[in-house]
Amino acid sequence: MSRALIIAVDGPAASGKGTVAARLARHYGLPYLDTGLLYRAVGLAVLDAGGDLDDAATAETAARKIDAAHLEDVERLTDRGAGEAASRVAGHPGVRAALLDYQRAFAARPGGAVLDGRDIGTVIAPDAPAKLFVTATPEVRATRRWKQLTGRGEVIAFEDMLADILRRDERDAGRGAAPMVQAADAVLLDTTELDIDAAFDAARRIIEAARARMGKSNA
Ligand code: C5P
Repeated sequence: MSRALIIAVDGPAASGKGTVAARLARHYGLPYLDTGLLYRAVGLAVLDAGGDLDDAATAETAARKIDAAHLEDVERLTDRGAGEAASRVAGHPGVRAALLDYQRAFAARPGGAVLDGRDIGTVIAPDAPAKLFVTATPEVRATRRWKQLTGRGEVIAFEDMLADILRRDERDAGRGAAPMVQAADAVLLDTTELDIDAAFDAARRIIEAARARMGKSNA
């Protein structure tokens, strides 16, 4: 049986991974899951219930209730507060375990899938035939996120945005449970100097090389 095209896209906040992943999914006609939304939904569920983000049991209970219906309010899920809340609940191993089956089932769809996050290539789909690790300098990532959030009316100073990004990087890379790290077989894509079209082109070339390898191993 030939292997399904599972594309794992990992990287830090505002690296361009979401945009690249969504465009790859469109290009290859594959379903796409932004796994950050799951952690964001857990963070918001805890906050909405007046709970403590740092309490592992509270966060895990919230995570066990998350399903596709919780991922619909993308505007709220992608605001600044939700990102911060997500990175706090994401450090609890019980939260990660609760979200594992949903992500693995998505990755196992028969025709393949595109998933983006922090641990897709390392934990969720370690056997994915195509893996990207998308990054950019913290300053460029903060600039992108600042433009995005201020563009839709959030009021935030650039310095605070940069501090958010650096704090989130440190938390995501430094945690014990599934830390953000480039998988050994992932290809690094630095988007610091690239616009969206150039980043997508570079990503597509990397996936084409992976598909050529798959073709050989399926032959
Ligand atoms: O990708 P996004 O910025 O939406 O993710 C929000 C937060 O969710 C991240 O900072 C990270 O802490 C957490 N996350 C994670 N593992 C994933 C996706 C997101 O820990 N696969």
